[in-house]
Order: sequence, then C-alpha cells, then structure tokens
Amino acid sequence: METTLVLIKPGGVQRNLIGEIVSRIERRGLKVTGLKLIHAAQETVEAHYAEHRERPFFGSVVSYLVSGPIVALAVTGDNSVKAIRAMMGATNPIDATPGTVRGDLALSIEDNLVHSSSDPEAAAAELALWFPEGTFA
Ligand code: CDP
Ligand code: MG
Repeated sequence: METTLVLIKPGGVQRNLIGEIVSRIERRGLKVTGLKLIHAAQETVEAHYAEHRERPFFGSVVSYLVSGPIVALAVTGDNSVKAIRAMMGATNPIDATPGTVRGDLALSIEDNLVHSSSDPEAAAAELALWFPEGTFA
C-alpha cells in the first residue's frame, strides 16, 4: 500500500470538477484517505514547488495555486503514486492521452487542473507538507 498527494488546482475547483476528479480516483479502486478544501498559503506552495524555484514558470505557478481555493487529497492503494500519475496525464494537456484527467478536461499547461506526486519520496514529503495532522491511510 502506498499513499500519494493530489491537488485539484484553482481552475478545477472553479469549474466544479471536484466530484469528477474524485469520482475517477474512487472508481479506479483507490481510497481517499485525506481531503480538504483550502486557500493555500504562499509559503506552502513555494515549499511544494521548491524543485522548480529556478524555472521561469515558478512565479506564475505559485501565483496560480494561491489564486483561489484548492482541494488537497491523500490517495491510498497499491502503487497509488504511479496509478494516479498515469490517470492525471502528461503535464501539458495537449500531450495528455484522452482518458486522462488532463487529456479529457484541460487544454493549457498553466491550467492543467491537477498536481500529483512524481514518486514515493516526493509523495511522503508532500503529504507531510499538506497533511501535517496526518491522514487516515
Ligand atoms: O505537474 P507535473 O508534475 O506534471 O509537472 P511539473 O514539471 O512538475 O511542473 C509543475 C507545474 O508547473 C505544472 O503542473 C504546470 O502547472 C506548471 N508548469 C508550467 O506552467 N509551465 C511549464 N513549462 C512547466 C510546468
Ligand atoms: Mg511535478
């Protein structure tokens, strides 16, 4: 069993896609073990995207993530990190396969609807950041 972090970004919340995205995760057989609607603090998002600090899009992705409410989810199941990454699709929705969240519901890289942890180490760090109180995993 493995637990991973999913964020539904402000565009996904604004477009009323919380249910659609959570439903896909649950129908796959993965378990929601943490869930909250929050307006993230700038420093939390900066820590979350610390690996991208030197990239040209860092400022804009951080501003975007703090621009409105987001949903943070902990998702548990066998190989959940890899399963969720595959379900969310490629970073640029134009390259994302139909059937994925980004491939079905998004068109632009700036508003690609979701974040998911890239590997188990990132998942552990991101879960500690977004769910310091712990999860039900
Ligand atoms: O989210 P994912 O792990 O697929 O992609 P990433 O390479 O870790 O980039 C993090 C986020 O930064 C992306 O999801 C995009 O929202 C944003 N980004 C961007 O706006 N422009 C880029 N050229 C690359 C990433
Ligand atoms: Mg990433």
